[in-house]
Amino acid sequence: TRTQVVIVGAGPAGLFLAHLLHRRGIESVILDIRTREEIEQTIRAGVLEQWTADLMRDLGLGERLDREAHIHSGISLQYGRERHHLDLEELTGGKRVTVYPQHEVLRDLIAGHLGQGGQIHFGVQEVDLTHVTGDRPRVSFRRTPDGPLETLEGDFVAGCDGSQGDSRQHIAGRTDLQKRYPFGWLGILVSAPPSHHELIYARHERGFALLSTRSDTVQRMYIQCGVAEDIAAYPDERIWDELHRRLATDGWQLTEGHIFQKGIVGLRSAVSDRMQSGRLFIAGDAAHIVPPTGAKGLNLAVADAVYLYRGLEQHYAGGGQARLDAYTDTCLRRVWRAERFSWYMTTLLHVNPEENAFEQRIHMADLEYVTSSRAAATALAENYVGLPLEG
Ligand code: DHB
Repeated sequence: TRTQVVIVGAGPAGLFLAHLLHRRGIESVILDIRTREEIEQTIRAGVLEQWTADLMRDLGLGERLDREAHIHSGISLQYGRERHHLDLEELTGGKRVTVYPQHEVLRDLIAGHLGQGGQIHFGVQEVDLTHVTGDRPRVSFRRTPDGPLETLEGDFVAGCDGSQGDSRQHIAGRTDLQKRYPFGWLGILVSAPPSHHELIYARHERGFALLSTRSDTVQRMYIQCGVAEDIAAYPDERIWDELHRRLATDGWQLTEGHIFQKGIVGLRSAVSDRMQSGRLFIAGDAAHIVPPTGAKGLNLAVADAVYLYRGLEQHYAGGGQARLDAYTDTCLRRVWRAERFSWYMTTLLHVNPEENAFEQRIHMADLEYVTSSRAAATALAENYVGLPLEG
């Protein structure tokens, strides 16, 4: 079978791309090795930049978002037991962030796409990308373990298959630039009401802590832990103890609840210096990883999808290849800014065991600067709410 754009991966990059293309009458088929249930139930990021939420509305996907999401107009930075409020809205001329979990975004995008007659094959197997970079790019796969081997041919292939995906391996002459951090995040999901109306990012001698939320009844919290630590070393009481200590401030209490999920992830930054090869273009985590601090990953994936869409749209409108040719450069300008910001938030707020007392003190001075200078606060805020897309 044939389509115009073969999209490998039904995550944020792949699904936003499919929606943008569909709106311009460009046909795509999405393949994913995961089942729809896996995709819709995996808990990941939770913060949408202003333009990302606006794009959902623009695509006609904003109904549940507008009903259920929480709009946050500020965040707090905490250190030395003091909480400092950053009024994002006031600092950025009216921009805010939207707390709406990634899997809810994906549910809306999947339902919306299928509802418009879009094609998504979930749970496919033996996906073979050997022929994605030639003049006749194609992908072969099976829908079921003993189903026939099918070949899907397209004018272009979009590799949106995440950091563990195979598409990146087919980008010729690629180099990864990367950094690993000597700490991880232990994240929990808790059945409880919110303890605070906004997110709190805390730097504490015992390590970073983040108070976040998912809904009125589900809260998300993280604490810095060692990279190679075993979750078994963290019974619930120990996690609560760390959260209480790291988030402690006068006149405030953290509300506990039942912890129904916990896990540890390592933190790393990585960027592929090439995001295209022939008719193959990679987007999102397939091309770059940010540490979670600042919640840029999902938003960056959507920005790649927008830039790729613009290139494809120009091509199909008979406008030539200029935007497709510039895809990598256009994406990487934004990617590196988000990498810088995510690295900055990470180093600002975590206690790095490899840093000496001088370096630790520098981070405290940075926090004091950000929380006392309007110029410094504005720089943080404009990155947090999301830098404007080019063009
Ligand atoms: C969340 C994660 C982040 O990295 C962040 O900066 C804010 C919120 C979250 O999962 O809720």
